[in-house]
Amino acid sequence: MTRTVYVNGEYLPETEAKVSIFDRAFLMADGVYEVTSVLDGKLIDFDGHAKRLQRSLSELDIAAPCTMDELLDIHRELVKLNNIEEGMIYLQVTRGAPDDRDFVFPDPETTKPTLVLFTQNKPGLADSPAAKKGIKVISIDDIRWGRRDIKTVQLLYPSMGKMMAKKAGVDDAWMVEDGFVTEGTSNNAYFIKGNKIVTRALSNDILHGITRAAVLRFAAEAQMEVEERNFTIEEAQQADEAFITSASTFVMPVVEIDGVSLGEGVPGPRALRLREIYLDESRKAAV
Ligand code: PDD
Repeated sequence: MTRTVYVNGEYLPETEAKVSIFDRAFLMADGVYEVTSVLDGKLIDFDGHAKRLQRSLSELDIAAPCTMDELLDIHRELVKLNNIEEGMIYLQVTRGAPDDRDFVFPDPETTKPTLVLFTQNKPGLADSPAAKKGIKVISIDDIRWGRRDIKTVQLLYPSMGKMMAKKAGVDDAWMVEDGFVTEGTSNNAYFIKGNKIVTRALSNDILHGITRAAVLRFAAEAQMEVEERNFTIEEAQQADEAFITSASTFVMPVVEIDGVSLGEGVPGPRALRLREIYLDESRKAAV
């Protein structure tokens, strides 16, 4: 089925949607994005994604293309037009398309940001078979730039990381810098030891995950403590359980790290409980 997508004020069939070859994101990866999940036809954590988008834009001096209320309306309209019950909405804002390629930022008075949104229909997203089996990860060096807190479209290395994982016969990769895990290629990384969830603290080294914030808030409901600190692959390998979070995977158990099985090698009860709580609470608060 042809999707209806949104480009700069217009709802169009995906085959008719066009962006200039001079768009700064195409030439310079000069753009930011958000991925918001949809459950029961409603948006999960929209507020968090909108706030992070505003922060990403302001860190890069890109003007907001519209108000956050207008963005919410566009999200909802796309969900409706494409009949999305479960899936994701991808949003991208770029610095726009000047007349030519130039390293210098274009004048924001004449070059307006580009705004693109499209839906990804994923029936069964919440009831994912992967969550029942758990995923396997390898570790790779984190060679990304120093502002990973900004959600830019520079995704070449994360994409290469997924390919390294695929080549190694596993599902994903955790990135390691100076001996400590930063995050997954497109998710935040955690382990559980006893009653404690351990995950790296927020800084410019990692993306400030919206799912991360929610899960850490819900930890108390699962009678768990949270410790935000650096950790190594070895420590995670010796943990009881591990998991990742993101808008597209929610809470996803990790059952193997660099060939070492965690616990019984199946998803642990605490990660599964956190997934259940996250899904329940998020559905209740969806808009
Ligand atoms: N990725 N860390 C990185 C590097 C990410 O790319 C993502 C999200 C996260 C988790 O953030 P959140 O919980 O807000 O989704 C952490 C999205 C899903 C993607 O690129 O498709």
